[in-house]
Amino acid sequence: MGLTPLNEIAPLLPRDAALAVDALRACGDVFIEEEILTAATMLQEALDGEYTALAAIVEGEFAGYCLAGRTPFTVSTWHLYWLCVHPRFHRCGVARALQSALEKTARDSGCERIVVETGGRKAYEPARRFYTAAGYQQCGRIEDYYHPGDACVFYCKLLS
Ligand SMILES: CC(C)(COP(=O)(O)OP(=O)(O)OC[C@H]1O[C@@H](n2cnc3c(N)ncnc32)[C@H](O)[C@@H]1OP(=O)(O)O)[C@@H](O)C(=O)NCCC(=O)NCCS
Repeated sequence: MGLTPLNEIAPLLPRDAALAVDALRACGDVFIEEEILTAATMLQEALDGEYTALAAIVEGEFAGYCLAGRTPFTVSTWHLYWLCVHPRFHRCGVARALQSALEKTARDSGCERIVVETGGRKAYEPARRFYTAAGYQQCGRIEDYYHPGDACVFYCKLLS
């Protein structure tokens, strides 16, 4: 995806928060309601400076976002808490662009590794494939974590 002024990754703005929640809902059965409510709270917290949140704008339209921050009690580890691209923009390189901008921001803030927790069910297969393609190593898996039959899969990427 070529980035132009109308096609960019930028810090998330207040007007993006509701669009980010719309994108989470548009992903169908990926996120449960409790997750969407938590994500909405964390979007507000990001706007208050507690997390780093980046938005992808494609031809003037909000296309997706990521939200990350230093993992509590660590010096140089960050968690990528949320990554969501509206289905209208899937497979256009939006997540790749968000990820790459996030890694730069994190590295510039002293981050040495990014950790992600994602789901093991089928709805999360695009996410697992994305993280693998983006250079994340699977580093753990807990069966039945979210509910019976739904594992948590852990990934980590070392930033050089
Ligand atoms: C996972 C997600 C963020 C990927 O976003 P995206 O913008 O479509 O991904 P990109 O276009 O940047 O894909 C980059 C690479 O990731 C891999 N990838 C992404 N989606 C894939 C899919 N559905 N199947 C296989 N590989 C996929 C590919 O290697 C792709 O490169 P390619 O298109 O050149 O083959 C998106 O599917 C999404 O928002 N899903 C719902 C929410 C979610 O699961 N978030 C993560 C929670 S932890």
